[in-house]
Amino acid sequence: MKKMIARATRLIRSGQRLVHEAAIRLGLAGYRAPFIEVTGDWDDGYAVGEHDHYGSLCERPRYAVLYGYLGARDRPVSILDVGCGVGLFRRGLPDERVDRFVGIDPASVAVLEARKQAWARSEFHIGAVPDPGLGKFDVIVLNEVMYYSADVDDLLRRCDAVLNNNGWVLSSVTRHTGDFVLHRKLDEHFTPLDAVVMTSRTAYAKWRLALHAKRVTAAATVKTVFCAMCSALSGEPPTTLVVLGL
Ligand SMILES: C[S@@+](CC[C@H](N)C(=O)[O-])C[C@H]1O[C@@H](n2cnc3c(N)ncnc32)[C@H](O)[C@@H]1O
Repeated sequence: MKKMIARATRLIRSGQRLVHEAAIRLGLAGYRAPFIEVTGDWDDGYAVGEHDHYGSLCERPRYAVLYGYLGARDRPVSILDVGCGVGLFRRGLPDERVDRFVGIDPASVAVLEARKQAWARSEFHIGAVPDPGLGKFDVIVLNEVMYYSADVDDLLRRCDAVLNNNGWVLSSVTRHTGDFVLHRKLDEHFTPLDAVVMTSRTAYAKWRLALHAKRVTAAATVKTVFCAMCSALSGEPPTTLVVLGL
């Protein structure tokens, strides 16, 4: 009897999710960040090891895909890991791939733990969104973090602002109701290069790992060509652009 009730409850829940998802697709309901939690909860969770499971065996293939994409860069890169937690992404990253690594996370307990590891060329700061003061980056990692943001467009705009011209965005988004809204937003703000959908047989979880590139605007193309011409002719970057801070 208990089993039947549990199965019926699961069926009702998945029916509700399907209806909700259809409503979002039809524009009848908006996407709501499903897992928003206050920072204090994250700190408490990290303090008692509640989030250790992100480092578990079933999560490893997900990281492997992100490292695989990163391996396509032909030299060490500067990386910004938004919502870095205790630095699990940095932990599995070979030092030789890293030119500079910056992790940010609003949970101070996680940031302090990451700092203890003293990984090469790596720094960790308390913060939820990219701060232009941290500099520009070749790669931004959004690893299971987008659905905690109350304003994803704002987050992606801020990421774009600190992404170098040939920069990449690596993302991982677990399957949840309306997740396609996040995939769409990534495609709107950046150029999609590839995506992989992965299912774990043990965690009964599904993730979408994606690789996006900075959108090349006409102005950026003109600037690149102009800079290349100036450098070729005088060996110097064009002073007008430098003065204008472009
Ligand atoms: C699911 S964990 C992922 C951690 C890490 N990226 C990883 O893969 O191990 C989400 C992380 O996002 C952080 N976080 C929560 N809300 C956030 C927000 N609004 N902006 C940025 N990070 C946030 C949490 O503190 C937590 O460390």
